[in-house]
Amino acid sequence: MAVQAISESIVLTDERVDQVLSVLHSRTGMNFIHYARPSIVRRLRVFLQREGLPDLLALPLLLEHDPALTTRLVNTLTVHFTELFRDPEFFRAIREQVLPFLATYPRINIWHAGCSTGEEVYSMAIMLDEVNLLRKARIYATDINTDVLEQAQEGSFSPALFSHYTRNYRQAGGRGQLTDYCAPVNGRIVMKDQLRRRISFHQHNLAADASFNEFHLILCRNVMIYFDPLLQERATRLFHESLVNLGYFAIGNKESLRFNRMRTSFVTIDGSHKIFRKVRFQKL
Ligand SMILES: C[S@@+](CC[C@H](N)C(=O)[O-])C[C@H]1O[C@@H](n2cnc3c(N)ncnc32)[C@H](O)[C@@H]1O
Repeated sequence: MAVQAISESIVLTDERVDQVLSVLHSRTGMNFIHYARPSIVRRLRVFLQREGLPDLLALPLLLEHDPALTTRLVNTLTVHFTELFRDPEFFRAIREQVLPFLATYPRINIWHAGCSTGEEVYSMAIMLDEVNLLRKARIYATDINTDVLEQAQEGSFSPALFSHYTRNYRQAGGRGQLTDYCAPVNGRIVMKDQLRRRISFHQHNLAADASFNEFHLILCRNVMIYFDPLLQERATRLFHESLVNLGYFAIGNKESLRFNRMRTSFVTIDGSHKIFRKVRFQKL
């Protein structure tokens, strides 16, 4: 049996890790079985330490009976890295290729699925404001993880990131100053209310929950990379159902629809920035 020694005090075997992930999958629909194993093991170790558990032995049974513990485990296992104007060229492509079409609608609904701590969402709100579309936009931002949603709602980031974010903002085609949209408050940089007013944050699990509105643009970036093919297909079908005809759909730079059975339900608008458009009928 392969043994992964995480620390002297906590040893996690592959078999036990599989068992925990399998219970988690059956209880939540969240499939971490195909996550990179070293990262899962590191996060499990953090979880055990936080919960005061000596090893994984009792965890499957505890998960069966304790929904709050299950939520805490999901919150520990999910990867949350994000940035303001992450992949600035992607945001520039949205600004140049998508926003002019969205401008033709009387109201615009946007969904950020897997929004993490909200930086992607605030980036979109800033861009919409700069082209005078924010006033008619409603932005729904969802994540499975309730901890990151709380942080997203606060809408703040560390001042240490400010110069990096300013560079991203400019590369993304930002027209003003980042300080037009955020200000220092109590040692943090806080997004202004003018952005916040158009955004609502909700918990939503792409592996289990249904569509909740009709959208003109859906972003699901750097989320499905952690899903197996079946789950990717489920989520993509959900996005397809949730888009207006010819609505836009964007995924992360390292993600692909190539092996997704839903690929024929979208046309590619910009292959390098992974921007697609819904077609009502599957292409042959
Ligand atoms: C790496 S972050 C991506 C954040 C942002 N979209 C970006 O690209 O910067 C991935 C997010 O997906 C969320 N996530 C993972 N599985 C999910 C699921 N089944 N339903 C909804 N969100 C999920 C995680 O909690 C995490 O916050």
